[in-house]
Amino acid sequence: MNNEEKKEGEKKLVEDAAKIGPMLTINKFGKMVCRHPWTSMDLQPDGDVQICCYLPKRIVGNVKFHGVKGVWNSEEFQDFRKQMSEKGAKAVCPKCHVLQGIKQWETLNWYKDLDPNSEVYKNAKLNEEEIFEGKTVLASNPRRIKYIPSFVCNLNCYHCNQEQYRIKGFHKLERNIFNQVMEIFQTLQVINPFGGEPFIFPETIEFMRAIVEKNPACRFYTTTNANHFTDEIIDLLSKIKIMKMAVSYDGYTKETYEKYRPGASWETVLKNTEILSKMREKNPFPLVLNASFNNETYKQMPILLEMCKKYKAASKMVPLHIKSNHDKEFWRKHVKMSKQNLNEWRRMVDEALLDKDLHLGTRNSLLNMKMLLENYPYSEFQITKNRVKVYIIDLFKKVGLYNAVRPLYKKITGGYVK
Ligand SMILES: C[S@@+](CC[C@H](N)C(=O)[O-])C[C@H]1O[C@@H](n2cnc3c(N)ncnc32)[C@H](O)[C@@H]1O
Ligand code: SF4
Repeated sequence: MNNEEKKEGEKKLVEDAAKIGPMLTINKFGKMVCRHPWTSMDLQPDGDVQICCYLPKRIVGNVKFHGVKGVWNSEEFQDFRKQMSEKGAKAVCPKCHVLQGIKQWETLNWYKDLDPNSEVYKNAKLNEEEIFEGKTVLASNPRRIKYIPSFVCNLNCYHCNQEQYRIKGFHKLERNIFNQVMEIFQTLQVINPFGGEPFIFPETIEFMRAIVEKNPACRFYTTTNANHFTDEIIDLLSKIKIMKMAVSYDGYTKETYEKYRPGASWETVLKNTEILSKMREKNPFPLVLNASFNNETYKQMPILLEMCKKYKAASKMVPLHIKSNHDKEFWRKHVKMSKQNLNEWRRMVDEALLDKDLHLGTRNSLLNMKMLLENYPYSEFQITKNRVKVYIIDLFKKVGLYNAVRPLYKKITGGYVK
């Protein structure tokens, strides 16, 4: 390869990384790498640390045994960083939605707009250098932390995919882990408390207070049922920089909302969505209405789309996911439907896509739903068909043709093949 071709190749790599997502960059070995293993820690309630939600089984240590700093430079984390540096993201994480262009991870590049003498800026800059160099032991601190104190919730939704973890046992990240996060809070760019319901945990309130008092540059984001907003929570939310706030809806009238989210109040969620929406007048942030649909609520999709317009929000819509805590009876009750109804749902999606004023996020979500509905397990026959397709694709994978079948795999499984 001559110099000209080499330069062209490097330029293409940089363009690809920029196109696919801000989480990607090119390191000194010329590999397109994901920043995640150098920037982020996802703390689970039992202390396990995940690198990323797309690699739930790739645990790089447990903070209960090794502490936050111990896991940050654990052998497992180092090993993953080494692989990522040497092989690149496409080889290490072939299933990642970011690489397939389905999902965008949040960028952390905004640190460049901060005061160069601030702790956050200095840590982020050092971290960027370490990513480029392919360092495995990091001198910089994590820049983004997902913190799940437990999966406990104030509601008892019919479909909750976290039920499976609650069944497995009650876990809670202890106070000393929270204190360790607080020790590195002054260099953090993003805190993402999660649950269960994040706003019932004192830790979430304390993180918001710490943003106000210790590190105003740190951005906050979470997903909530918005049924437990105290005055203090509203006050703190209005004082901090919110990166994104998602409010979940699984019914779109008082009747279906309260039926499917026992313990929740329709008036309360609307009031709190309104509050969040108004907050953006002073301090803009993306508001997302998370929405799942079952064989009854799909008919209410137009109501949700109107709400999105009213609140100038995007919607992340999904057909109900079937997880290991859901049995056949659940499928029969909430997923199974006639072909006629499924076609009606598909038509509704197509019609919604014709709306020129649609938020880009909502449009992408509708396109994703359209794809998922192609193999929707509305009947026993369809489930069998999906299984056969996946079996064939797995055979392709076994003979080394994984890349050829990768797009098909996502299209067919869509989370529905058990
Ligand atoms: C598990 S909750 C946790 C955060 C918060 N308690 C809430 O409800 O927003 C996160 C999101 O997952 C969605 N979810 C849970 N189970 C689901 C399922 N079986 N299918 C589709 N979405 C599901 C919820 O509706 C919610 O939007
Ligand atoms: S509010 Fe969220 S975490 Fe709680 S039960 Fe419902 S979906 Fe699950």
